[in-house]
Amino acid sequence: MSTGDTGTGGMVPAQRDEAVPGDGPALELRGITKSFGGVRVLHGVDIDLRPGEVLGLVGDNGAGKSTLIKIITGVHQPDAGTIRFHGRLVDGLTVPRARALGVETVYQERALAEQLSMWRNIFMGRPIAGRLGFLNVRRMRRITAQLMGESMGFTSAALTPDTNVTGLSGGERQGLAIVRALHFEAAIIILDEPTMGLSLAETEKLLRFVDGIRAAGKSAILIDHNIFHVYSVADRVVVLDRGRVAGTFPTAKYSLDQLTAIMREVAATAVYTEPLSHSTVEAET
Ligand SMILES: Nc1ncnc2c1ncn2[C@@H]1O[C@H](COP(=O)(O)OP(=O)(O)OP(=O)(O)O)[C@@H](O)[C@H]1O
Ligand SMILES: [Mg+2]
Repeated sequence: MSTGDTGTGGMVPAQRDEAVPGDGPALELRGITKSFGGVRVLHGVDIDLRPGEVLGLVGDNGAGKSTLIKIITGVHQPDAGTIRFHGRLVDGLTVPRARALGVETVYQERALAEQLSMWRNIFMGRPIAGRLGFLNVRRMRRITAQLMGESMGFTSAALTPDTNVTGLSGGERQGLAIVRALHFEAAIIILDEPTMGLSLAETEKLLRFVDGIRAAGKSAILIDHNIFHVYSVADRVVVLDRGRVAGTFPTAKYSLDQLTAIMREVAATAVYTEPLSHSTVEAET
């Protein structure tokens, strides 16, 4: 495990153990299949996530979005299919391995430790320690303050690196989780329903953070029930329907209205009929 201490005093991210930069997709899923108790919830899912891309993942309740995310983060093992990170085939992915490969997940609820300060939350599990093993608290506070100002845009004078997370708004918490992921050089940041329970203003702020992930050259997968949110930040939107990819739609080519109509059609018929060279269309019913 790296210490997170880069010796440069700030925004230079910590080293990852295994993350390998390179060409090709940051993440490549092929034929991912998963059943729970004999019920198949994912049917041969193919997804590519490109470097510097925000990929939206949408679909009805129970479509299999969270299951797919749990497979990417090593929580569940697929029954069949392959997972490649930067072209490298990874077998038997576990949670620690996924983390070492640069996958970070931001959830509304579980992302942060409520009773701990911001700096402790940022460095949780990856503290900066000196040669003798003493924690370098001053340095961790300083980096937190820098991240708060530069990356999070926290302007409230009431907030310091010592502020407990309980004192943050929902949007600020999400921002902190994203900034933490970026600081530790996450290559892929996964956001599963991050806007749940956020106010309109906080949601706006969160979506700007997601833009920041792309600006940092990292990739993100954003799951949100609100297609407006997804559409406003995603480069491409994957529509998952009952465990199958119904299509992948670049937001540069499809208007929000078109995408909404497609999602409605998929939900009603389990098929999207217009043939598209750049999308995967499942023709099964
Ligand atoms: N651990 C599990 N054991 C048994 N069934 C599960 C498990 N996890 C998910 N499922 C089932 O798999 C299907 C897909 O669930 P999943 O949570 O992936 O859907 P989702 O697309 O994330 O839905 P939502 O939008 O409601 O969050 C559902 O039918 C769900 O009940
Ligand atoms: Mg879910």
